[in-house]
Amino acid sequence: MNDNSTPVTVIGLGLMGQALATAFLRAGHPTTVWNRTPAKADRLVEQGARAASSVAEALAAGSITILCLTDYPAVHELLAANETVLSGTTLLNLTSGDSAQARTTARWAEQRGAHYLDGAIMAIPQAIGTADAVILHSGDRSDFDAHSATLAALGTVSYLGADHGLASLYDVAGLTMVWSVLNAWLHGTAMLRTAGVDAAAFAPFAQQIATGVATWLPGYAEQIDRGSYPAEVSALETDARAMAHMVQESRALGVNAELPELIKAMADRAIAAGHGGEQYPVLIEEFAKPGH
Ligand SMILES: NC(=O)c1ccc[n+]([C@@H]2O[C@H](COP(=O)([O-])OP(=O)(O)OC[C@H]3O[C@@H](n4cnc5c(N)ncnc54)[C@H](OP(=O)(O)O)[C@@H]3O)[C@@H](O)[C@H]2O)c1
Repeated sequence: MNDNSTPVTVIGLGLMGQALATAFLRAGHPTTVWNRTPAKADRLVEQGARAASSVAEALAAGSITILCLTDYPAVHELLAANETVLSGTTLLNLTSGDSAQARTTARWAEQRGAHYLDGAIMAIPQAIGTADAVILHSGDRSDFDAHSATLAALGTVSYLGADHGLASLYDVAGLTMVWSVLNAWLHGTAMLRTAGVDAAAFAPFAQQIATGVATWLPGYAEQIDRGSYPAEVSALETDARAMAHMVQESRALGVNAELPELIKAMADRAIAAGHGGEQYPVLIEEFAKPGH
């Protein structure tokens, strides 16, 4: 059943939903679509999609229904208005949200007899349908396995575990990585611009540093999972002296010093707690508790 003849439904035809439906159509899946503003289905219908005249009709048409709306309140509004027809459906909610929303929605849908998978799209619409589009899934393994071949039309699909909140958690963890790396690069660029250095001149150097740091992660992860942080490369108190230069230089140059100040403040707290002789990943202890 899970070949390209499997019928699918896409509900929500914004920028992302249109890309998802297009990828299913390109892969040959009979694709039913529904959108609150019906005109957004027109281009897809020209490409071979069938526009359902109601959500209930759309839910009945696909062996799996993808939901891709603005946010979870919109998903709840739509599903609650159709709760009597959810039993027996398989829903994959690719709407962005947090892990608590994913778990609550999963419970709600399952109580109404639906199979519910939650997902997170780590890609832009233009990448959907290519291997570059990473799509994360969490929920019942058998529900994922039953549809993974169909979902492969969207990109690189991966299954994280039975906890419905996992896809959202990985999503925000990934976003933290993305914006932290970008902020660090922007801060460095702002410092160098005071000396007339273009962003383009710093970018290759910054790229090399980001790539190099990325290679440290597996070893540091082992330390975190063991809960033991021997200073094999550098002790935190040594790092903190370099951090002081970073803060002083930022202030002296008149660029924003908030990011280096945050980095140094967290290291200082770990040192005050007695971890100065250990290696950098010991800071997980600081990240694991609420901020100040
Ligand atoms: N775009 C991206 O690059 C990207 C990347 C990763 C994840 N995502 C996630 O994908 C989801 C959709 O993003 P998008 O870019 O497609 O957004 P979008 O273009 O703004 O589309 C939003 C969609 O939600 C529908 N909608 C909103 N409220 C609704 C309601 N109460 N009832 C029914 N339908 C409702 C809209 O219908 P109308 O057309 O009638 O307004 C539209 O189809 C978001 O959660 C976003 O975070 C997007």
